[in-house]
Amino acid sequence: MSFELEKELVGKHAAELVEDGQVIGVGSGTTVSYFIKHLGARCRREGLKILAVPSSYQSYFELIKAGVALTTLDEYDTLDLTIDGADEVDEDLNLIKGGGGALTQEKIIGTYTKKLIILVDSSKFVKRIGGAPIPVEVLPKALSPVYKKIESFGGKPEVRMAKRKLGPVVTDNGNFILDCKFEEIIDPESLNTRIKMLPGVVETGLFIGLADRILIGKEGAVIEKVKERARPDLNR
Ligand code: A5P
Repeated sequence: MSFELEKELVGKHAAELVEDGQVIGVGSGTTVSYFIKHLGARCRREGLKILAVPSSYQSYFELIKAGVALTTLDEYDTLDLTIDGADEVDEDLNLIKGGGGALTQEKIIGTYTKKLIILVDSSKFVKRIGGAPIPVEVLPKALSPVYKKIESFGGKPEVRMAKRKLGPVVTDNGNFILDCKFEEIIDPESLNTRIKMLPGVVETGLFIGLADRILIGKEGAVIEKVKERARPDLNR
């Protein structure tokens, strides 16, 4: 089975997990697109009353097209469930996200939620995250100092360049992205904290301890990995 079919399989499976009346966060990416498509079909078929908070212009427009009603975190500050994709997932359910540039809003909806479910095809599940570069969203004015600091941490940052526009990618929030490759990530939590603490950094694509459940599409089946640890306590 191709990776594309595995994505559709988990997207469809996840759409069945949403319950009537829930307020959900919706991530971004090609796997989430399948989820949106199947959720929209369920809403039409079963008359489900779902409200969704999108994490990007991509999911915003796709949710509208699918006929799923939208809301915001101003109206619901804790979501029932968030569904998203990832670029890499490991045994500890740590993630690298942001391949599509939507990491900041994805981390927001992935944090202010009771449950975060991640959908991936089998190519994304690895022993230890770090094969993919870590996307870091940076305020344009701080690009050069942040770049140098990340180099001093042992990373190899690259400014993400746009494909059909001259110059760098500009995120939905008006910022730049540094894709930062590290030789090896031994302690993802402390690396996340170090990068996040740099003034000018908006967010990192390291999602540590946030995912509750991973659904992996593999050869026609959906494999689940569940986290035993509690989510970070938002009231601390
Ligand atoms: C978007 O910024 C990302 O975090 C995506 O969730 C991630 O890149 C996965 O995308 P695909 O489902 O398209 O592989």
